[in-house]
Amino acid sequence: MIPRNLHEAAFECLLEPDPARKIARGRAVAEAWGRGELERGEAPGPEPVPDPGRPAAPELVAPGKVPRRGMNSAAGRRVLAHALAHIEFNAINICWDAVYRFRDRPDAFYTDWMRVAVEEGRHFELLEAYLRDGGEAYGRHPAHGGLWETVRRTDDDVLVRMALVPRVLEARGLDVTPRMQARLRQVGDERLVSILDVIYEEEKGHVLIGTRWFRHACDERGLEPRETFRELLRRYMQGRIKGPYDELGRMEAGFTRGEIDDLKALEAEFEAALAATQPASSSTSDSSG
Ligand SMILES: [Fe+2]
Ligand SMILES: [Fe+2]
Repeated sequence: MIPRNLHEAAFECLLEPDPARKIARGRAVAEAWGRGELERGEAPGPEPVPDPGRPAAPELVAPGKVPRRGMNSAAGRRVLAHALAHIEFNAINICWDAVYRFRDRPDAFYTDWMRVAVEEGRHFELLEAYLRDGGEAYGRHPAHGGLWETVRRTDDDVLVRMALVPRVLEARGLDVTPRMQARLRQVGDERLVSILDVIYEEEKGHVLIGTRWFRHACDERGLEPRETFRELLRRYMQGRIKGPYDELGRMEAGFTRGEIDDLKALEAEFEAALAATQPASSSTSDSSG
């Protein structure tokens, strides 16, 4: 049974630990919303969700402890596919959290994020099938434990959430995917290349949805979007802006030329600030499915 209230229904999707049940429940909720069977209005919460529903495995570890292996071996490519599956699983939770948490948006906001939840579920399934055909499953390797942190840091404000989660974390996926595909093509893994084709195309849509609702929130408050985005990056993403950027993909996803220039300028600014304080730098790249 699906709760009739939209936000309660989303909360149940968020808390469901089992990936297959989370995906199936999500599809059912999105379809019920599409048929007009869910209502908005008063619902309990929103509460902070420190740990959304997820299975007992994978074990979550610090980003530096996530296994990395070369793409030359099939086993190494499964480690990559596992890391990507984990990002997609997390991305499903990101969608349901937005539907649960932000209560005063137009209907189209919820329609958009439910569509994204369904697409993230399909991305997870494609990667999981790839793992399964290689004799593995999601949960087999340790996974990045920090992905939910940026989400939590943006609980209070839909404008900040839309800026930093789709337009920073998901957009980072656009930057890295074509290069990953080029490497996979070299080693002849056409199957993973074509899975990443599906993911890449749909992820542009997710970033575009983020852009749409970021600008909508800026309009409501009379804020200028480019300036606002730049200030949020400065406030929340010190030292965590990394190129090279997939400029064409990002522009299809609603980035303006000026915003891409700002990303490059901020990256240089953060690097200069870092260089002034310490001799060597290390970094991890976060992205979100
Ligand atoms: Fe996505
Ligand atoms: Fe995805």
